[in-house]
Amino acid sequence: EALEKNGYDHFMLKEIHEQPTTIYDAMRGRISSKENRVTLRGLEEYANRFVRANRIIIVACGTSYHSGLIGEYLIEDLARIPVEVEYASEFRYRNPILNERDIVIALSQSGETADTLAALELAKSKGAMIYGIVNSVGSSIARLTDAGSYIHAGPEIGVASTKAFTGQVTVLTLLALSMAQKLSTISSTTFHTLTAELERIPEKVKECLQADEHIRYIAKEIKHHHNALYLGRGYNFPVALEGALKLKEISYIHAEGYPAAEMKHGPIALIDETMPVIVTATNRSAYEKIISNVQEVLARKGVVIAVVPKGETAISSMAHHVIEIPNTEEQLSPLLSVIPLQLLSYHIAVELGRNVDQPRNLAKSVTVE
Ligand code: G6P
Repeated sequence: EALEKNGYDHFMLKEIHEQPTTIYDAMRGRISSKENRVTLRGLEEYANRFVRANRIIIVACGTSYHSGLIGEYLIEDLARIPVEVEYASEFRYRNPILNERDIVIALSQSGETADTLAALELAKSKGAMIYGIVNSVGSSIARLTDAGSYIHAGPEIGVASTKAFTGQVTVLTLLALSMAQKLSTISSTTFHTLTAELERIPEKVKECLQADEHIRYIAKEIKHHHNALYLGRGYNFPVALEGALKLKEISYIHAEGYPAAEMKHGPIALIDETMPVIVTATNRSAYEKIISNVQEVLARKGVVIAVVPKGETAISSMAHHVIEIPNTEEQLSPLLSVIPLQLLSYHIAVELGRNVDQPRNLAKSVTVE
């Protein structure tokens, strides 16, 4: 086992550090900014169905559900097709409206999650086309779907998903870009900008990982708190949800993710000096609004940990702790901003002496209802 951990203390840490490679592997052979091209074989096979789709429904559980939410932002933003994201367990039991013009995409690391599998069976029986974005090759979901794209992240051992999340987001980005190109909803300049930047993401993830020691220090500072709030807007809202889930899963600290602007509709009542608030503020849009959200937290003595793009000053000068990440296009920012949140929960869990790779009560893949 020590050998498999490759010198890291835990599988989770190893998998976090693998992400420059696994993100690269998720796009290898599928993207060329030079040729202005993105090709996903599964999508090409069913290109007609994709360009004629009325609607895309993404079904998933856990961390995969969060990458699905990012997929919604990406596909609607770039390809202008309406997207709904649903917990597989809710979707399958609520008599959903579905027809042949709908495409149901399942996101699953294991490809074996019972609720996701059952949701797909239901969608198939109603005539929808079903597509899988899966890590485990030959898994049940991969076999059931009409077509799909593997994320090629390699085996993920840590129960808390990390590299599968960024692999899913990478493939969803490719899918959105390819659909946008086919539907002519993207200019060739924007397409080029995004593909060229996506190719640079693995290097930028490497840069994010350099904050490891600094994040360990922050973890020591906040580990004794019993609650945490994660805030983000737009593309970084699902990242806030994922950051909170990571913390809950492995440190057993209660955490919630919220769209920053919703804070005033409830969570603000909880904020005092015992509440760390982790704000991801990499958005160019709504930036001023995030600044005022941070001010609201500080006015109530909340402890602010800010994830900001390099060179940012307004929030950095106010926050208690600052984690800098490289600048990137807003649509690609989750691939960078999630990295410090993964590291933060990892270090808090280690500090608290938790069983990081096998947290209590959780399973890597939930094959029963
Ligand atoms: C379990 C795992 C999570 C995972 C979820 C969905 O709860 O502990 O890490 O996100 O299942 O799994 P899947 O394999 O379908 O992505």
